Amino acid sequence: MSVDDTRQTSLIEKAASRLQQPTQAARASGSARAPTEHDVGRARAGREAASDTQQGKVVKIDIARLHREGYLTPGGQRSRVAEEFRIIKRPLLENAFGRAAALVEHGNLIMVTSAIPGEGKTYTAVNLAMSIAAEMDKTVLLVDADTGRARVHEVLNLPLGPGLIDLLDDDSLDVGDVMLRTTIPKLRVIPMGRFHSHSTELLASASMQRLMQELETRYSDRVVIIDSPPILATSESVVLSGLAGQIVFVVEAAHTSQGHVKDALSLLDGSKPIGLVLNKVRKSPGASYYGYGSYGSGYHQTGT
Ligand SMILES: Nc1ncnc2c1ncn2[C@@H]1O[C@H](COP(=O)(O)OP(=O)(O)O)[C@@H](O)[C@H]1O
Ligand SMILES: [Mg+2]
Repeated sequence: MSVDDTRQTSLIEKAASRLQQPTQAARASGSARAPTEHDVGRARAGREAASDTQQGKVVKIDIARLHREGYLTPGGQRSRVAEEFRIIKRPLLENAFGRAAALVEHGNLIMVTSAIPGEGKTYTAVNLAMSIAAEMDKTVLLVDADTGRARVHEVLNLPLGPGLIDLLDDDSLDVGDVMLRTTIPKLRVIPMGRFHSHSTELLASASMQRLMQELETRYSDRVVIIDSPPILATSESVVLSGLAGQIVFVVEAAHTSQGHVKDALSLLDGSKPIGLVLNKVRKSPGASYYGYGSYGSGYHQTGT
């Protein structure tokens, strides 16, 4: 199953905006407050935890387990998933670093999103990260920003520790304090970190904007993949889409209604390259959900 390019472009152009996009200022003011003594103490504890767990230490990725769970893993095997993600990553890398890079602002910041939860954002983000990490000359930073359903740490079996939310909430933390190195040499991860009642607001805050700018410039040779909340579930993800340079939009082929897809696409900036990944495409009739290789991803791109 696939969706043709012309129709997707017109979906983006025609569909009316239904959610209100919050202003950066309104969101930022929600998270700005003077630090308390408790905060200072917590920051110190955070730093200590960070130096224990994050810096220098290399987190072991259980490749065999990931492989068993259907994820793409290093090792050069020519699987169907590897082939699909090769097709998905090409235009993204071209937009980020190739001849098209001059036309795409912040091209190395790639947001992975979808209309609603459960469509395969984490599956796509992890596989895309694995696929790009297998490139000779590319380093990948995978950031878990899906505040409602953070799962990157679970999929990669990462130790609990500070992450994105801690970084956004605590000025004394640096990217290096929360970024994990892994046994996949070209793969770095920033997990979600601790639960925070204002997590979603922090995503749309001025600190997130600063962080995205920092990631883009400090790691300009690096692909940053942001596993993001679904567009129709939180308005913060629309703000996030404004900060990313490219958007990978995952559609669960068999389940998501065209209305949801239209509504979500209409909220994204159509001038950015938006790649559509059709996930869980039923390739053979009668195949079951977790059947052997019965699902795949199609890829289409809109914009430039
Ligand atoms: N192409 C696929 N093949 C097999 N399982 C998949 C595929 N895409 C997603 N899944 C599974 O479906 C569930 C939801 O996917 P997930 O990536 O967690 O969704 P999201 O991040 O969008 O909420 C997970 O259990 C995931 O492993
Ligand atoms: Mg997810």
